[in-house]
Amino acid sequence: MEKTLIIVKPDGVKRGLVGKIITRFENAGLSISSAKMLWLDKKKVNAFYPNDKEWILMLGKKNTEAARLRGEKLGRSEWEHGKLVRKWLMDYTASGPVVAVVLEGSDAIMAVRKLVGPTDCSQATPGTIRGDFSTDSILKAGKEKRVIYNLIHASGNTAEAKKEIKFFFSDKELR
Ligand code: PPS
Repeated sequence: MEKTLIIVKPDGVKRGLVGKIITRFENAGLSISSAKMLWLDKKKVNAFYPNDKEWILMLGKKNTEAARLRGEKLGRSEWEHGKLVRKWLMDYTASGPVVAVVLEGSDAIMAVRKLVGPTDCSQATPGTIRGDFSTDSILKAGKEKRVIYNLIHASGNTAEAKKEIKFFFSDKELR
């Protein structure tokens, strides 16, 4: 069995979607291994998200692509935009309580990513969590100088899942 981490972000908690989101995973056959609600400060959020050049450029590129799809331009370099998105991400993730959950099941990491859907909710297909519970878009968020409210974070691969589970849960809290 494989383990992965999800975080219901402040928008998901504020909207009262924690139960509905977790039910999606349980319905798919995944089980809750550990869970907690907590309010991260900016220092902790800063340590959680990568801060390297490659990741910041990846954020910028996603925004160029989101603008291109709507026939628009980003208006600043990918590097500058990536740095802004990361800053907005720190502010937002630390703005309210989140719920961190370790989910367990067969091929859990990929199964969870599939159920969550892509970063940009406006591009997420119906049936995914982001597609069913939000129509927010990267482009709109950028214009409003904020991150996209996409409800949930999910580990992307085995190494990330291992690191992120350890970030939130001590050995004693894991079963
Ligand atoms: S993910 O999990 O696939 O959505 O993550 P990823 O696409 O790698 O994006 C990195 C995190 O930044 C959040 N975020 C944004 N990314 C790009 N552009 C904009 N405008 C933006 N706003 C927020 C995105 O949701 C990822 O955070 P997590 O917590 O992993 O979802």
